[in-house]
Amino acid sequence: MIQGKRIVLGITGGIAAYKGAALCSKLVQAGADVHVIMTESATRFITPLTLQTLSRNAVHIDTFDERDPSVVSHIHLADHADLIVVAPATANSIAKLANGIADDMLSTTLLAATCPLLIAPAMNVHMYEHPAVVHNMELLASRGAMFVEPGTGQLACGYVAKGRLAEPEDIAAAIGAWFARSGILSGKKVLVTAGGTIERLDPVRYLTNDSSGKMGFAIAEAARLMGAEVTVVAGRTTAQAPAGVQVIRADSAQGMLEAVLSLYPETDVVVKAAAVADYRPVQTYDQKLKKTGERLVLELERTTDILQTLGERKTHQLLVGFAAETQDVERYALDKLKRKNCDLIVANDVSAEGSGFNVDTNAVQVYGPEGLVEALPLLSKRETAVRIMDVIARRLRAAGGLA
Ligand code: CTP
Repeated sequence: MIQGKRIVLGITGGIAAYKGAALCSKLVQAGADVHVIMTESATRFITPLTLQTLSRNAVHIDTFDERDPSVVSHIHLADHADLIVVAPATANSIAKLANGIADDMLSTTLLAATCPLLIAPAMNVHMYEHPAVVHNMELLASRGAMFVEPGTGQLACGYVAKGRLAEPEDIAAAIGAWFARSGILSGKKVLVTAGGTIERLDPVRYLTNDSSGKMGFAIAEAARLMGAEVTVVAGRTTAQAPAGVQVIRADSAQGMLEAVLSLYPETDVVVKAAAVADYRPVQTYDQKLKKTGERLVLELERTTDILQTLGERKTHQLLVGFAAETQDVERYALDKLKRKNCDLIVANDVSAEGSGFNVDTNAVQVYGPEGLVEALPLLSKRETAVRIMDVIARRLRAAGGLA
């Protein structure tokens, strides 16, 4: 998958810079054309000659060291890269990119680049957990940057904790997996629903749920990384929507139903990750409801089941539902799959630790009509989303819907 790809490898100034050399070597062995950019600090840890020898290309350090008069180096490198990898990425290099600072060869190239970016952070555990670093990483992730998380182990500073650069073979594997996935859904239209719906009672009160939209947005992002044209119909969300996808806001179950139905005929894949209200107030008020007696009884009525409606109207679409359960996960999931005429159901036990609403991780099982297709371990929602999209891509291929 890496054969013939042009990869810009940014090496920044941390002790793990030496692992950048091993990564460079692996990528070259796999057939990539690797162009290394080092920061000044990185050259304090490892010599440019090492990287030049391994990559068989000139190493770039100084923005003003223009060797080829026919090009501007940082623009040329940015324009011709299939992928930029920063490994190791220090807290400083992450902060600079998050804030648009361009004061050396690597940071100017990163700002000029429009290709995908993979970041492998490495730093002391307290730095990795610092709110500023966490915020910068989240900001970059929301703009579409991919991350290879650091491992846990002995750090150079003496701590045994998270912050150690992922092993070069794991970073190379992540790069290979990314190239394998990228573009496989190109030409496909994917519709994702995300977040929780809002059912109004009066101008200041509503019924909603704890959904943050993280899972739906992560699915949308994974589908976009695979080359699909992605639309998200989102209810109330607290997570940030990913870059490069169209977001349509729809508050209520009814609004979401209408938005989804209007897009459905042109859609190839629907993933219904939204937590849709099953009931809404029968009566809504234009003015704020005043308190009266000791008790107030609200009467609720059923909303239309969007997924079921899509199942009934299915023509060519691959329909994927979610099932949030607290018991008997498999039985309920398979029942929903059948009842709502879905092709896949992603089930999770929302009572299990690390799963469900408002957390960054999830452990899901994917069911098809034949039963369990894949049981995923506890993973970040981003990784879970990529793995769910892998299953979807396999189904599309099996159905002859992919090139
Ligand atoms: N769903 C929907 N429209 C609704 C309710 C649910 O489209 N009015 C979808 C959700 O987006 C999700 C799937 O149905 O993909 C399952 O949601 P869940 O709440 O787990 O299941 P329900 O069908 O509501 O079943 P139950 O409440 O009996 O568990």
